[in-house]
Amino acid sequence: MSDLRSAFESIVQFRRSNRAFDPTTEVPEDVIQQALEQAMLSPNSSNMQLWEFHWIQSPELKQQFISLCLDQSAAKTAKHLIVFVTRQDLWKKRAKWNLEKVQSTISGELTPQQKGGLQYYKLLMPFLYVRDVLGIMGIVRKAISFLMGLRKPFFRAGGAAFQRIVVHKSCALAAQTFMLSIASAGFHTCPMEGFDENRVKNILRLPGKAEINMIIAVGKGTEKGIWGPRFRVPKDEIIINH
Ligand SMILES: Cc1cc2nc3c(=O)[nH]c(=O)nc-3n(C[C@H](O)[C@H](O)[C@H](O)COP(=O)(O)O)c2cc1C
Repeated sequence: MSDLRSAFESIVQFRRSNRAFDPTTEVPEDVIQQALEQAMLSPNSSNMQLWEFHWIQSPELKQQFISLCLDQSAAKTAKHLIVFVTRQDLWKKRAKWNLEKVQSTISGELTPQQKGGLQYYKLLMPFLYVRDVLGIMGIVRKAISFLMGLRKPFFRAGGAAFQRIVVHKSCALAAQTFMLSIASAGFHTCPMEGFDENRVKNILRLPGKAEINMIIAVGKGTEKGIWGPRFRVPKDEIIINH
């Protein structure tokens, strides 16, 4: 096995969800900072980066997060807590940012890639992300996908649920990059969806359309924090060859 491959295998095997972190071992801040910066490099839909990673640093806030995470032991014993947030509401800002990036590469006649990039962020992103109270745009998107898809494969865009799935997919990938990075530094994590989303949003002063993807507790794991062997269903039920 190449060095990279065996390093990756070790990281994947090392990462377990740990729910009881060692109170005596600190996780250096630069480990968290680097993991967050690596998480930013995760693949994400249309490079829109509709995510935020909120690192809970104030001791008072961290204390409040224990009950917000429903008193889970991972939150109680965590040395660091990171809230992964989806920010669908920032789509205009990010589309503009991407558009400007494409524009900054133009120095003469447009290349096909630049032309495509301009159209993508000027036209396609508004088409996919725009939302209205009555959900009319969702119906329009579904109708266009249906009609265009009658004769050949076509991207199936939809309404609010479709948009939420898009941003959560990307955010979860960032969360996984973060956890693998933490594992590569010899520390442990516990991803959590057991929390009070409304209260978390309020305390972080997030806008209504922001959503909490998951909260990740970080620390030096203990044996007690591993609840049992790592069970996975048989691989032939999961890996399906066609
Ligand atoms: C989205 C998500 C939410 C999770 N929420 C919780 C949680 O609230 N509390 C918890 O103790 N574990 C939580 N887990 C951890 C899973 O239980 C764990 O990943 C699974 O049992 C597999 O074990 P492993 O991570 O050690 O391989 C969550 C995992 C994911 C991916």
